Amino acid sequence: MKYINLGKTGLKVSRLSLGTMTYGSRQWREWVLPEVDSRPFIKLALELGINFFDTADMYSLGASEEILGRALKDFAKREQVVIATKVYNAMSDAPNDKGLSRKHIFESIDASLRRLQTDYVDLYQIHRWDYETPIEETLEALHDVVKAGKALYIGASSMYAWQFAKALYLADKHGWTRFVSMQNHYNLVYREEEREVLPLCQAEGIGVIPWSPLARGFLTGNRQREGFGETLRAKTDDFSHNLYYNESDFQVVDRVVDLSKQRGVKPAQIAIAWLLHQPSVTAPIIGASKIEHLKEAVEAVDLALSDDERQLLEQPYQPHPVLGHR
Ligand SMILES: NC(=O)c1ccc[n+]([C@@H]2O[C@H](COP(=O)([O-])OP(=O)(O)OC[C@H]3O[C@@H](n4cnc5c(N)ncnc54)[C@H](OP(=O)(O)O)[C@@H]3O)[C@@H](O)[C@H]2O)c1
Repeated sequence: MKYINLGKTGLKVSRLSLGTMTYGSRQWREWVLPEVDSRPFIKLALELGINFFDTADMYSLGASEEILGRALKDFAKREQVVIATKVYNAMSDAPNDKGLSRKHIFESIDASLRRLQTDYVDLYQIHRWDYETPIEETLEALHDVVKAGKALYIGASSMYAWQFAKALYLADKHGWTRFVSMQNHYNLVYREEEREVLPLCQAEGIGVIPWSPLARGFLTGNRQREGFGETLRAKTDDFSHNLYYNESDFQVVDRVVDLSKQRGVKPAQIAIAWLLHQPSVTAPIIGASKIEHLKEAVEAVDLALSDDERQLLEQPYQPHPVLGHR
């Protein structure tokens, strides 16, 4: 495994992060694995040198954090792992149990720490922009969370570049803790981030940790035009049906599959390697539902693509509307 600084911080993270949205409860999403089937992924990730784990309070409504917390307690030393979680999405129907108010942030960090069985998270991220709370309130609350020692760094996730630039500017202006990372939607079939967000992150020294690097499985070559595909997630992940499956998306996948055959590797490895070659990208957050997915992803860290190969993969891309901000 290779390690890299998260943005301008001194924190070293593996070049892949293991996303844990797939681990939790089938009641939340049909394609999610229960704890007994999830633990081997976390154990193997550690054995393969992954030290960076991403979760969120809302994944399986807390169960993902609980599973990650228990597994890391059993398989790792706290100081050796980097735990990232998120706040923003509704945890119940109660009016204050969502968003980025000072109240919800203070309640949520404590609830996440309890579920994760840890005194602090390494990275506390806002899952989305909250249009109903002044960003100043959010930033000051996050700063206080950091000063209380409950989070070491703070990060943001999918939002417009103007919003992120405003948050960075206001943090500097008030002397509050600054966001160090951006967790955004970025992969070979969604590259709109290249317009504004990624140049901003590069200019500001922000670590970029893209979510759904395989477009929720779409880039693995097994998704189909008719009926979406054979795997459980292909069939039941409604969110992915809304994001991808355009004709030009399939043309990109065809290039990925062709190149994978030429290179004697898996399509998923080509798609991950392409992201790792982007100068702005720190560590894609991978999803794995079968154990070989994890091994293949780690092998992709050493897969070099030439400029010509990368251009070939990029060429059929057609602009998309903004996807994944809400
Ligand atoms: N911040 C946000 O808003 C946000 C949003 C989404 C996700 N995330 C984070 O990003 C993480 C990853 O998201 P994701 O699961 O959508 O990531 P992804 O890596 O794009 O998709 C994972 C899916 O791809 C397929 N796959 C993975 N490796 C494969 C391989 N080697 N060969 C064939 N198929 C393979 C599997 O699909 P099948 O199960 O169908 O086989 C797997 O479920 C999440 O766990 C979460 O931490 C964050």
